[in-house]
Amino acid sequence: MSMTSLRGRDFLTWLDFTRDEIEAMLDTAHELKRRQIRREPHRILDGQTLFMLFYNASLRTRNSFEAGMTQLGGHAHFLQPGAVYTPALKGEEIAYKTERISDVARVLAEMGDAIAIRIYGKHTGWMYGKGHRIIREFAEWARIPVINMEDDMYHPCQALADVMTMQEKLGHNLQGKKFVMSWAYSGSVEKPLAVPQSAIISAAMMGMDVTLAHPEGLDLDPNVLQATKDLAKKNGGKFKILHDMNEAFKDADVVYPKAWTVQPTDGSGPMDPEKAKAIFEANKDWITTEEKMELTNDALYMHCLPADRGMEVTDEVIDGPNSVIIEEAGNRLHGQKGMMALIMG
Ligand code: CP
Repeated sequence: MSMTSLRGRDFLTWLDFTRDEIEAMLDTAHELKRRQIRREPHRILDGQTLFMLFYNASLRTRNSFEAGMTQLGGHAHFLQPGAVYTPALKGEEIAYKTERISDVARVLAEMGDAIAIRIYGKHTGWMYGKGHRIIREFAEWARIPVINMEDDMYHPCQALADVMTMQEKLGHNLQGKKFVMSWAYSGSVEKPLAVPQSAIISAAMMGMDVTLAHPEGLDLDPNVLQATKDLAKKNGGKFKILHDMNEAFKDADVVYPKAWTVQPTDGSGPMDPEKAKAIFEANKDWITTEEKMELTNDALYMHCLPADRGMEVTDEVIDGPNSVIIEEAGNRLHGQKGMMALIMG
């Protein structure tokens, strides 16, 4: 694969890419990380501008993109609601302070080199898939790459950092390693499906032995489950779903326990907070403890952060010797640099 072959592509979900294309991004990310550690300049995106539209809060994503663009010789420009007009989908009513996505995307493309967007949750009325549709509509209109910084379906940048971290800790070839994506209890039901869905897709693409664990009623999108099953088959891995956290943790090489909400994934209605709360409260024992970690094969403990301590996980585990959360967060910087170097370079 040549360095230029991904130039101009959007990065919206790993499902839009082949394994070779994703591996090219990961290899570039590892190389750029080594160069950054050695303080070797790598101004691959000299003078380029990344526009970042954040409709939701962020610590890791914003700062990793800003630092990454600086290290690559460019600039990341931060925009948030109030600083821009609300993007309206084709067919949606135009009201005060809204602007058609077709216009926003084409205008920004006149001025910069890529557009990155985060939108989910209350900004989409908790209607599953609307955030992804908004980002796809930007991609249809912008003649420059569009990057998904997390929507209601996918968090593909998080998945780059997650796989990079596993490669650093377990070796480049993750084939056959047992990866457990588990639901975990939280006091908040406002948790999109993006991270677990991108995590199982990426682990299956890497040929891992993927187990998805959650209480009854917390199903992920059936289309994503089918895509994961297909990827596991194609890449020599496995995929299964369990409803028992202890059973899932047995012999795991990696555990990734976090909360996600209950929501119709067929577009039939928004997330119902009361219904979600009832299911969450009935499953408070889905917390990662040292006892559960002892069931694993000395597994890495992973989390995208921010984590709900005392609910999703105990302090002993998240601050313990198996936790790789800080390196994982740090790899947001390097994973995204690898991706941007190929699609923008
Ligand atoms: N993991 C992640 O996306 O973190 P932020 O919400 O802080 O960007």
